[in-house]
Amino acid sequence: MTNTEIKQLTEKFGDAFYLLDSKQFRQNFLELKSEFTNIYPKFNIAYSYKTNYTPKLCKIVNELGGFAEVVSDMELEIALRIGVEPNNIIWNGPFKNAKKVEQLLIMGGTVNIDSAYEIDLIAEIAKKYPQSKLNIGIRCNFDINDGILSRFGFDIESDDFYRAISIFNEYKNLYLIGMQCHFSTRKLESWKFRVTGMLNLIDKLGIVPEHIDLGGGLFGKMPDSLKVQFDSEIPTFKQYAEAVAPVFAEHFKNTETKPLLLIEPGSALVGDCMNFAAKVVNIKTVRGKAIATLLGSIYNIHPTLNKKNSPIEIYPMGENQKKYNDLDFGGFTCIESDFLYRHYNGKLAKGDMVLFGNVGSYSVVLKPPFILPNFPIIDISEGKLEIIKKGETFDDIFRTFVF
Ligand SMILES: Cc1ncc(COP(=O)(O)O)c(C=O)c1O
Repeated sequence: MTNTEIKQLTEKFGDAFYLLDSKQFRQNFLELKSEFTNIYPKFNIAYSYKTNYTPKLCKIVNELGGFAEVVSDMELEIALRIGVEPNNIIWNGPFKNAKKVEQLLIMGGTVNIDSAYEIDLIAEIAKKYPQSKLNIGIRCNFDINDGILSRFGFDIESDDFYRAISIFNEYKNLYLIGMQCHFSTRKLESWKFRVTGMLNLIDKLGIVPEHIDLGGGLFGKMPDSLKVQFDSEIPTFKQYAEAVAPVFAEHFKNTETKPLLLIEPGSALVGDCMNFAAKVVNIKTVRGKAIATLLGSIYNIHPTLNKKNSPIEIYPMGENQKKYNDLDFGGFTCIESDFLYRHYNGKLAKGDMVLFGNVGSYSVVLKPPFILPNFPIIDISEGKLEIIKKGETFDDIFRTFVF
């Protein structure tokens, strides 16, 4: 981005906005997909809507032949509104609206059950629609040696798990289409344990389901300045593919039907596809410490409150810059700990714009309506200016309150 481009955008959209890079998103999808399909062709990506459900991104996934991974009826509605074929929709998540589960199953979508209450729910639906084939997956929970006791899915050693498996014998219209797992650990090692865990499980059960879904939790692309802030290596898409796909290719080399290998990335596809631009409204010094105040907040870029410094670029906007050491960028909220970036060394002036990179995942979808409504999202990556989301207004936030 040039200074002039940023200036033109501020004139049109105000002093804070997100920039979506849908071109990069497309590239990430295609690259990740080809790394896996080069080794195991029966592969697809189910994009994790929750990570960034901007409809334009969901549409791109659909156009490129990917699936929709949704975790609520709200997200299901997005998929249906943008025209995703129901059989390309997978519903995960620990809570599911029963009425909507019924609707998706009847339309041919897949519902991955997460815990015992859903066994009863799908049994009821199976009884109600004896003539319909209902696609059900089971979310599996096992130890992948990452030190985290996940709360998602059925413990594969539990009675509940075997009750879930046995329901398919009881209701012949329930079809066990897939087995799924998801772990939040992004380390490469964890992917090896996921693969062996799932393959051992299906061998033990003596089944080859249509889908084997290994969930999300892959690192995306990032500059070295961000990589060094993690306590593990950041694998490339190729490294993830090489950890997973050859094991599938080998395991199913002699089987007549090979399962579709699915993964559910969110951050890996969208993390580096959004920047956030915010104006420096003030620079002060408090007992020797330089603090800039921005028209932006940690809630705009890291609502999960992670303490990592995103890569930044400063766009001088005319006032005389001064050199600062150890300057912190503070947010517009009244939360003491609202800092977007710590320990900046470099030039800065009031009125400059600061661009924060790698803020595409769990940002706009998690931003609370705290202190200010959220800023617009613009996309200029595909050669034209597109408004992706208008800036929120007072009425957008207060429409549901009773005055
Ligand atoms: C079931 C499921 N799939 C996929 C994801 C996406 O994870 P990530 O953005 O880490 O790839 C999540 C995130 O919580 C999830 O719960």
